[in-house]
Amino acid sequence: MPTVERFDTKADVAEAAARGITSQLSAAIERRGEATWVIAGGTSPTDAYTVIAEKYFSEVDWSKVTFIIGDERCVPDDDPDSNWLQAHNRLLHLVAGSSSQRPPTSKPADEAADAYSALLKTKTDPSGRLEVDVAWLGLGEDGHTLSLFPGRSEIGVLDRLVIPIYDSPKPPPSRITLTLSALKNARDTTIFGVGGGKADVIATALGDEQADLPIAVTSRFIESNGGAVTWLLDDAGASKLAHR
Ligand code: 6PG
Repeated sequence: MPTVERFDTKADVAEAAARGITSQLSAAIERRGEATWVIAGGTSPTDAYTVIAEKYFSEVDWSKVTFIIGDERCVPDDDPDSNWLQAHNRLLHLVAGSSSQRPPTSKPADEAADAYSALLKTKTDPSGRLEVDVAWLGLGEDGHTLSLFPGRSEIGVLDRLVIPIYDSPKPPPSRITLTLSALKNARDTTIFGVGGGKADVIATALGDEQADLPIAVTSRFIESNGGAVTWLLDDAGASKLAHR
């Protein structure tokens, strides 16, 4: 079962996430000389990126960290809808060379997905599994995560690391996303469950071991492959949990 940590506010979640990633990245660097971090899109993690930049930046050897974006919208690089740009403006701009790790999502989705897959293949182990030390995931009010949406087949794609999405239910429509296969080796995953709008899907995902919401399937998948999963909830996100 995943670990569930509850906090009063979104700001408390950001602080906990920032503190946690700092020690997880440093531990990975200590363990294997480098660290790979799947960063999250959306707005849930943005405050945490800022906290890292302002409070914890000096505690990590960022020259040894590789950033992977969990999903990205196919928009121009300077488009405010870009997930990478949101992380860049708050944290990645402080890390020399990080922009070279950005997916080419100003291209059409299929070309961007192929190019990003090729880039990620340089970070796979001999069996082809992506080395992921830390992953951050957001979740939508419909229970999606990354750009894996309910009732669609993409969550079942296990033979590719990155796939294109052309008709995302959440705008913008054209995206690339990691697949579950890319998270098969994720060692420590943090899921941001903040905001009352997500309280129902959080309660379902954590209350029903058979829940088929993409975030629930993803959390179970990571754990079934030996990874640790921690849900960070604010009071609003936790408001529908059975055992309050
Ligand atoms: C995206 C995100 C998406 C996000 C959730 C939550 O590109 O839209 O990666 O999966 O994590 O929709 O978004 P918020 O954090 O903004 O609520």
